Amino acid sequence: AAPSGAETSSPANPIKNVVVYGSGLMGSGIVQVAAQHQYQVTMVDLGADHLKKGQGYIEASLKRVARKKFADSDAQQKAFVEDTLSRIQLSTDPEAAATTADLIVEAIVENINTKRSLFSSLDQVAPKHAIFTSNTSSLPISELASATKRQDRFAGLHFFNPVPQMKLVEVVSTAEVNPTVINDLTQFCLSLKKAPVNCKDTPGFIVNRLLVPYLMEAVRLVERGEATPKDVDTAMKLGAGYPMGPFELLDYIGLDTCKFILDGWYKEGKGLAGDKLVRPSERLNELVAKGDLGRKSGKGFYSY
Ligand code: CAA
Ligand code: NAD
Repeated sequence: AAPSGAETSSPANPIKNVVVYGSGLMGSGIVQVAAQHQYQVTMVDLGADHLKKGQGYIEASLKRVARKKFADSDAQQKAFVEDTLSRIQLSTDPEAAATTADLIVEAIVENINTKRSLFSSLDQVAPKHAIFTSNTSSLPISELASATKRQDRFAGLHFFNPVPQMKLVEVVSTAEVNPTVINDLTQFCLSLKKAPVNCKDTPGFIVNRLLVPYLMEAVRLVERGEATPKDVDTAMKLGAGYPMGPFELLDYIGLDTCKFILDGWYKEGKGLAGDKLVRPSERLNELVAKGDLGRKSGKGFYSY
C-alpha cells in the first residue's frame, strides 16, 4: 500500500515535523496517529516518568491497531509497531523540541495559565513558519493565541479520546487566524485519515458544548438519588444507543479534566458563566479531591 500522511502530501505540505506537548491520554494518541501516518514526531512532557507512561499507552494501542491491520502475520505486526515507534522522539526540554517544529500540538493539563506560559516560551524559539495549535477541550483559543505573537498562525485542533479510534477533529478558527493555516490543518487531519469539521472559537466548540452538559446532567441525576451510575449507564447504552454510558465516559475522559472544563465555564465561559448547566458538582469535586480521576488513576465512578 502507498504510504500515507507526510510522505504522500503534496510538495506544498508545510508540515513534516510535529511536536506534541503532553504525553497523557490525548498527547500520546496524537503522537501515535501522526507517527502512523509518516510524520516525524517529538513527544514532550515534564519528566521521564510521564513520558514512560505515554510510551506505554502508545505501545499498547499500536499493538491493537497492528493486530487488526495485519491479522495473519505476527512479523508484519511487529514491523509496523517498530516502524511507527522509530518516528517518535522523546523530550523533556520543551524549547529545544520546538526549534525544528512545523506544527506544534499542545495537549497538556487543562489550565489556561499553564498553557499560556508554555505557548509564550515556545513562541520565542519555534521557527516563524511553525503553526501553533491547542487540543484544549474548553478554553478560548484566542486567549491562548494572545500569549504569542503569531495569532495568525494559531488555531484549535481538537482530537477525541481514544485518538487512534475516534475519527473527528474539530479545527477551530479565531478571528485572527490566517485561512491558509486552517487549510493546512484540514489537510493535516485528512492525512491522518481523520474527519475534520470547522468550528468557531466558542466554549466547547461543537461536541463538548453538547456533551459536557449531558454528562453533568447524569451526575446530577445520581446526586438527587434518582438512579445508580450503573443503571444510568445501562439506560443510555441500551435506550439511546450510546457506546458508553455517561459515567463510563466521564471516567474515560478523566474526572480532573471534566472538573477543569466545568469550573472554567462556570467562572468565565462566554455565554455560560454562572449558568446552572455548568454549575459545580459535589460528587465530582469529592472524587477529584480523593485523586479518583477515572480510568487513568484506576478509580473514578467505577474501579478498574
Ligand atoms: N487504540 C486503538 N484502538 C482502539 C483503542 C485505542 N486506545 N480503543 C479502542 N480501539 C478500537 C478497538 O481496537 C476496536 O476496533 P475495531 O472495532 O476495528 O475492532 C474499536 O476501537 C472498539 O473497541 P472495543 O471493541 O475494545 O470496545 P468498544 O466497542 O467498547 O469501543 C470505544 C471502545 C471506541 C472507546 C467506544 O466505547 C466509544 O466510542 N466510546 C465513546 C468515546 C467517546 O465518546 N469519546 C469522546 C470523549 S469526549 C472527548 O474526547 C473530548 C474532550 O475534550 C473531553
Ligand atoms: P492527561 O492528564 O492524561 O495528560 C496531561 C499531560 O500533560 C500529563 O502527562 C502532564 O505531565 C503533562 N503536562 C502538564 N504540564 C505540562 C507542561 N508544562 N509541559 C509538558 N507537559 C505537561 O490529560 P489529557 O486527557 O491528555 O488532556 C490533555 C488536554 O487535552 C487537555 O487540554 C484536555 O482538556 C484535552 N482533551 C482531553 C480529552 C479527554 O478525553 N481526556 C479529550 C480531548 C481533549
